[in-house]
Amino acid sequence: MLRPILRLGDSILSEPARPVEAITPAIEKLIDDMAETMYAAPGIGLAAPQVGQSLQIFVLDLSLGKDPAGLVVMVNPEFVEREGMQLEEEGCLSVPGFTATVARPKRAVVKGLDRNGDSHTIEGTGLLARALQHEMDHLNACLFVDRLRGIARDLILRKVKKLSKAGKW
Ligand code: NI
Repeated sequence: MLRPILRLGDSILSEPARPVEAITPAIEKLIDDMAETMYAAPGIGLAAPQVGQSLQIFVLDLSLGKDPAGLVVMVNPEFVEREGMQLEEEGCLSVPGFTATVARPKRAVVKGLDRNGDSHTIEGTGLLARALQHEMDHLNACLFVDRLRGIARDLILRKVKKLSKAGKW
């Protein structure tokens, strides 16, 4: 089932997500819906707060569904390591139509539970490291726009405000 994706300005996106206490059928359904919603968007990652559930879950797939083994599901994730620095263009399904250059560590290791509740670890560099950190940020009430400074941030926020006023956001 596709779920509507919330946009910047929605209060759920600025609340820290709660840990998942148990992988119930409702959580499994949420994970399936998140993957389906991400592929349909299309996007390479989606966090539960983006579909209105303030829970520590994200899905990502750099292959956009082309690789059957490409889907990563992380429940209650935490950083194990982060190092280096990369500067690349980044966007977000909750901030459609906008991108900006965001500084992120070059390598990230994230540990969490998979959809069966088993512990797993994923290590990424480049785009995968960026995607992991972008989704981890969502669980900590942070959008990529919040990582920008000064004019770059103000410009996006001002345009979003304008779109909201016009009923186009
Ligand atoms: Ni995002």
